[in-house]
Amino acid sequence: MIESLKEQFYLTTEHTSYWFRVTEFGHLEHVYYGAKLQKQNMEALRYKHIAEFGSCISYGKTEKVSTRATKKIKNAEINSSEHYSLDTMCLEWSGIGRGDYRQSPLEIKMPDGSFVNDFVFKTSTIKSGSCDMHTLPTAYGTPEDCMYIDITMEDRSNQIELHLIYTVYEDTDVITRRAYIVNRNDEKLVIRRVLSMMVDIPNRDYRMTTFDGGWIKETHRHDRDITYGRIVNFSATGGSSNQHNPGFLLSEKTATESSGNVYGFNIIYSGNHYGAVELNHADIVRVSIGINDHCFEWELDKEELFEMPEAVMTFSNKGFNSMSHHFHDFINKHIVRGEWKDKERPIIINNWEAYFFDFNERKLLRLAEQGKKLGMELFVLDDGWFGARNSDSAGLGDYEVNRKKLPSGMKGFVQKIKALGLQCGLWFEPEMVNEDSDLYRAHPEYAINLPGKNPTYGRNQRVLDLCKPQVQDYIVENVSRILDDAGITYVKWDMNRHISEAYSDRLTNQGEFFHRYITGLYSIMKRIFGPRPHILLESCSSGGNRFDLGMLCYSHQIWASDDTDPIERLKIQKGLSYLYPLSTISAHVSASPHLQTLRETAFSTRFNVAAFGCLGYELDLRYLSKVEKQEVAEQIAFYKLHRRTFQFGEFSRVDYPKNNKMQWQVRKKDGNKVITGFFQTLTIAAEGYDYLRILGLNADKEYVIETKPQNVYVERFGGLIKHIMPVELNPDGLILRTANRIYSMQDGVETYQGDGALLASGVLLNNQFVGSGYNEKIRLLGDFGSNLYVVTER
Ligand code: DGJ
Repeated sequence: MIESLKEQFYLTTEHTSYWFRVTEFGHLEHVYYGAKLQKQNMEALRYKHIAEFGSCISYGKTEKVSTRATKKIKNAEINSSEHYSLDTMCLEWSGIGRGDYRQSPLEIKMPDGSFVNDFVFKTSTIKSGSCDMHTLPTAYGTPEDCMYIDITMEDRSNQIELHLIYTVYEDTDVITRRAYIVNRNDEKLVIRRVLSMMVDIPNRDYRMTTFDGGWIKETHRHDRDITYGRIVNFSATGGSSNQHNPGFLLSEKTATESSGNVYGFNIIYSGNHYGAVELNHADIVRVSIGINDHCFEWELDKEELFEMPEAVMTFSNKGFNSMSHHFHDFINKHIVRGEWKDKERPIIINNWEAYFFDFNERKLLRLAEQGKKLGMELFVLDDGWFGARNSDSAGLGDYEVNRKKLPSGMKGFVQKIKALGLQCGLWFEPEMVNEDSDLYRAHPEYAINLPGKNPTYGRNQRVLDLCKPQVQDYIVENVSRILDDAGITYVKWDMNRHISEAYSDRLTNQGEFFHRYITGLYSIMKRIFGPRPHILLESCSSGGNRFDLGMLCYSHQIWASDDTDPIERLKIQKGLSYLYPLSTISAHVSASPHLQTLRETAFSTRFNVAAFGCLGYELDLRYLSKVEKQEVAEQIAFYKLHRRTFQFGEFSRVDYPKNNKMQWQVRKKDGNKVITGFFQTLTIAAEGYDYLRILGLNADKEYVIETKPQNVYVERFGGLIKHIMPVELNPDGLILRTANRIYSMQDGVETYQGDGALLASGVLLNNQFVGSGYNEKIRLLGDFGSNLYVVTER
């Protein structure tokens, strides 16, 4: 809900309040963002500025009285006990050169030749529903579930209009903010920085959390204390990047997963982003987020407007999980759209890690057939199906099917996959070109090129110049043609390098390049997938190099990482889970030892981690033993049974006091089922006991908790096996290897009962294996072991 009362604004969601007001001089003063409050006088919450801070600039004493401002200035004189310095105020928006020395969201070369800007309140309008943008994707909602306020601000001496739009998504406790600027001056403006929002809050000894990494190590959580100065979370790669995800958090240092004040911020944008947390001398924290001003410059002629991406904010006083739940619900309800919104995702079998480029139709059909037998539902033909694409140095940009690999063409191949009872999906990397390709030979001008500089390469490829309409058309026509001709129902949209030599000969101002690339991409995706809503779109960028809310406005899920090692995935998926729901996180089971880390992990752990996301398999099924196949079939049956809970349930990270353990859970939305995963990284000898805490169940209802049965292969025990086998086996011998393929042991299974309160307090589990004997109750975890447990109402 949004209420406006004498130029005081009260924005309210189910559990939060956000208040601000217009000051005597027309600035927007931020008053409160936190747990929900009843609407009342704001005075007690305002940051006080009664005393004059030496060396600070006094705004009030210098302001000339304009006719429209007379009434306000009079009030200001009445309130003359207040010292009005912008540098010591909490603001919703701040300019440059009027006494506020923190970073302004806007840096413009003004028509008067200066960089000074000062926007003050003009009018406001409140409307129900959400407010679309012309150039960028936005969150969306109906008049029943959201409303927005459009506040018009103006810089009076330069006739520039600034609109601040706040949309309140009451049911998910999210408020979005964005801005656009309109040049009403006859002179052109040069915009050098435009952020989507800023807000100032009094410091409470906060900590900033970011999600950083790189290729195969995306979104690892990092915490740092806020101290004087500015901490910046940014990307300059041309995409939102695997280096720093655009989302970040601000929390009290004492906050845990289930307690304490936590703020979350993100942005609906896939290009270079910039998020900053700045603590100033007056102990005010400024949070801002928007487009990175790195190499940015935008010219705005008279009556032109520039739209800034939509920023997303949430708050919870119940810890990180609750903050994440807000984001998860918001993304599922107001970001992801089309036919796949809220629809269960199919289980994928992808050929990439099974064969890379070395495949033919026979191999693919055999993989698909085996996958189908085990319960998989959608076959994805990954890289290598077109042109001369037999390695990563040729073929990108070409769309002719390689008939040597697929003699019956794409249509024929898709029909064969469908005849097996599977849906068929296809990989594309439409934004790229290899120089060794027909496209490049015919149209070298389609690639980004800076005259006079040798191009630099990533994975042997160049980036297409999406600023050019003819390049956009080429991609739209070719991708659409294949999708329609062949009857494809899933697309994996890849993008495997960062941008370098940012330059387009179509632009007169190269400061527009990065933003125009991204708006070009959005336009392509809208043109291809808008008319084809039945297609499930998974975006990817060497894994999670573009995992952001902008992509999620088009793609329903995103490939989290090229790293499918489950132990690495614990860090990656955990990091993503702070900001994004499991329905958007694509996670596959792959081979062991792992192709990047050489780590050996049990099949059970690979599944137990991948199940917390949109499940797929990506390995050569030919080499699975009989027992492994049985295990995969059981895993898939289990996942199907609980798929809705895994993909759309309420996901929580359970605080665990030991560094070598992690516990996650998904709770069915109606609350009568939880599946929890207990993961151990490195084992510690005779560690004592482990426990599970189950969150969010009804304290008065009775539940049963049971271990999901899983296999432990006999080879895990090496020479120890002689102690439990009826016959003595040579641990290196053929008999043990054969036994391993046909026989497996059961990991310990436990069952307990109790009410929701008991389960929340912690269920003590059976001991882990310590080498002093084996029985069917002992938990066989070792290094990288894990278990799933199902909690159901009795
Ligand atoms: C990078 C992706 O992340 C992989 O899954 C795979 O699709 C390769 N590209 C194919 O080149």
